[in-house]
Amino acid sequence: VSLLPALNARGASAAPAPGGAADAAVPLFAVEMPLVPVLAPVSTADGVDTYEMTMRTQAKEILPGVRTELRTFNGQFPGPTIKARRNRPVVIRQRNELDVDVSVHLHGASVPPADDGGPMDVIAPGAERQYTYPNKQPHAPLWYHDHAHHLEAENVYRGLHGSYLLTDDEEEALPLPTDEYDVLIAIRDAHFDTATGALQYQMGDRARTTLLVNGAPYPYFKVAARSYRLRLANHSNQRFLELRLEDDSDMTQIASDGGLLPRPHTTKAVYLTSGERADVVVDFSRYPVGTRLVLKNTGFGAVEDVSQVMRFDVARTAQDNSSVPDVLRKLPPLPQPTAERTVVLSMDEDGRPDPKAYIDGKLYDHARVDAHIRSGASEIWTVTNANTKVPHNFHMHLVQFRVLERQGAAPRPEEEGLKDTVRLMPGETVKLQATFDAYRGEYVYHCHMLDHSAMGMMATMKIG
Ligand code: C2O
Ligand code: CU
Repeated sequence: VSLLPALNARGASAAPAPGGAADAAVPLFAVEMPLVPVLAPVSTADGVDTYEMTMRTQAKEILPGVRTELRTFNGQFPGPTIKARRNRPVVIRQRNELDVDVSVHLHGASVPPADDGGPMDVIAPGAERQYTYPNKQPHAPLWYHDHAHHLEAENVYRGLHGSYLLTDDEEEALPLPTDEYDVLIAIRDAHFDTATGALQYQMGDRARTTLLVNGAPYPYFKVAARSYRLRLANHSNQRFLELRLEDDSDMTQIASDGGLLPRPHTTKAVYLTSGERADVVVDFSRYPVGTRLVLKNTGFGAVEDVSQVMRFDVARTAQDNSSVPDVLRKLPPLPQPTAERTVVLSMDEDGRPDPKAYIDGKLYDHARVDAHIRSGASEIWTVTNANTKVPHNFHMHLVQFRVLERQGAAPRPEEEGLKDTVRLMPGETVKLQATFDAYRGEYVYHCHMLDHSAMGMMATMKIG
């Protein structure tokens, strides 16, 4: 049963994505899925991996025959993947050669406030700065993206997003598929002028009906008839994805935002709101060589016309010594909570021309602290989506939290691990627990439908 049901057709005014058809001009399964290159450090001295990136405009052929101007990290779309190891710091020097402010946020990471890439802490055009990531947290499929106040929605949409895969000994000890059988699949939507290739950006646009996978439209990916670890990531501005294999066969979800789940979750559907990640293991040895298998999207914003994402082409046989253990990870016990608070998300519905979005009835104001948190506290947050038509999700900086309850019941199996972003369908309430024992200072929390955070649905917490 779909978790994201009737909204497909209903079309709440401020809701994401299309009521329309996919761009007819964009052919399906015509290009091979690019593998996102891993960036090489410029130095590995003193136990620190140092990287350099330049943010600049770059035109690329995404749709056949036309070029699309993008805002990129290093001229790449999506940005290069960073591979990091627990307890080995990473330094990234970011140079802004764009003509807009940017702030580079490492989503899901535990970092000091000065390195968090918050909304007001921007790099002006022509300037550069250095971010230091201590990587003290456990393994997790993190990602980085722009976060400049009021610009983040458009900047990310135009290409400023990439992956940052943090691993550790615990994860590497497992017999999961590795190397070429461990593949990043970053999905996002876009609205092109198909005649010129230009990316169209408008807040709340419902016509982002082209899906890109690792930057390519509806690609095919040649796989061997064996198990793969697919690192699914939703880098869309607003779109909610519900991913299924076309024959409705099982996938094994093994990880979410904050890394491995306690145990594998066998499922026909993977749910990813904007900003969420999920790793699945798919065993292609079920299929004879020659099989072509579409990955479908039956989720929010996906009417039939955007129901296809990519295609797996089973092209050869291969050896497979990988397996998925019954126990993937032992999560530390939850500490005794020391405080509780509520958070209410809402936005103007019903087609207002300039809708605003709120947390606890207030628009984001960077000069205001909305939540004072004691350092070391472990808090229960009860987060409610007060809208009746518009979905939201909820993301906190600095922490990986645990979902305690969804709608008064136990969380779904894929929510039993560590999370940094959680889905909130209209009217839903989620209880989560977060522990603030890593750093002191100010961080934001917000809806990760980026058009909504840019409309004001963001607030500040201060730990200390
Ligand atoms: Cu992925 Cu505050 O963001
Ligand atoms: Cu929202």
